[in-house]
Amino acid sequence: MRHIMVLNAKGGCGKSTLATNIAGYYANEGQSVALADYDPQASTLDWLESRPADRAPIHGIAGFETGLRGVGRGTDVVVIDAPARSHGPELTNLLNHAETILMPVLPSTIDMKATERFLQEVLSSGRMKRHQAKVGLVANRVRENTLIADELDEFLEKQRPPYVAYLRDAQNYVRAFTRGLSIFELPEYLAWPDWGQWEPLIEWLDSRSSRP
Ligand SMILES: Nc1ncnc2c1ncn2[C@@H]1O[C@H](COP(=O)(O)OP(=O)(O)OP(=O)(O)O)[C@@H](O)[C@H]1O
Ligand SMILES: [Mg+2]
Repeated sequence: MRHIMVLNAKGGCGKSTLATNIAGYYANEGQSVALADYDPQASTLDWLESRPADRAPIHGIAGFETGLRGVGRGTDVVVIDAPARSHGPELTNLLNHAETILMPVLPSTIDMKATERFLQEVLSSGRMKRHQAKVGLVANRVRENTLIADELDEFLEKQRPPYVAYLRDAQNYVRAFTRGLSIFELPEYLAWPDWGQWEPLIEWLDSRSSRP
């Protein structure tokens, strides 16, 4: 069983969006997937509630109440949606739940500054120092050919963890979320550009480099 956590202390950077899409991807691959929401806002559980019954099943867990109790033994992938503003002991506790951490970052000066600080906190945790987890960085909501997109690129390139993917700003993410779907379940003619951008992310998740 593997545990993939989407984490960044900064609010609104796309944690829940990434979490639902990762869960949707692996569910469509035929894997047994649990989606554990550690945020009392419970956005990913809302998403699961609107998920059509005929879609690949994903097991929802209110992690903020029960932790990972309730994750079935036969589960292949546990996707964990972390809350914003996680620091200190709460962060230490969260980090213990995953071997793979994805950190979405928006093209915004405030977000980059906040992420830089947060990344230091994560990398100096005992778990990271003991090499028990790997971090991958994801640029999210990128609008190509903007100055700030270039700045975000440069920023992510120079960080210690690998820069594994960039995802464009697209209504597909909003559309899919509202309908309880992942972008992988939208029609190809709409979602093909996004599928292409997810390829390196999935490749990283499926590779040895995303695990300790
Ligand atoms: N790539 C994207 N393209 C367009 N909209 C996006 C994208 N990623 C996220 N969004 C939108 O940005 C908003 C914030 O995303 P989301 O809720 O996933 O962030 P979050 O980090 O989970 O926020 P919070 O810190 O409040 O939990 C949502 O309205 C979501 O639909
Ligand atoms: Mg969220």
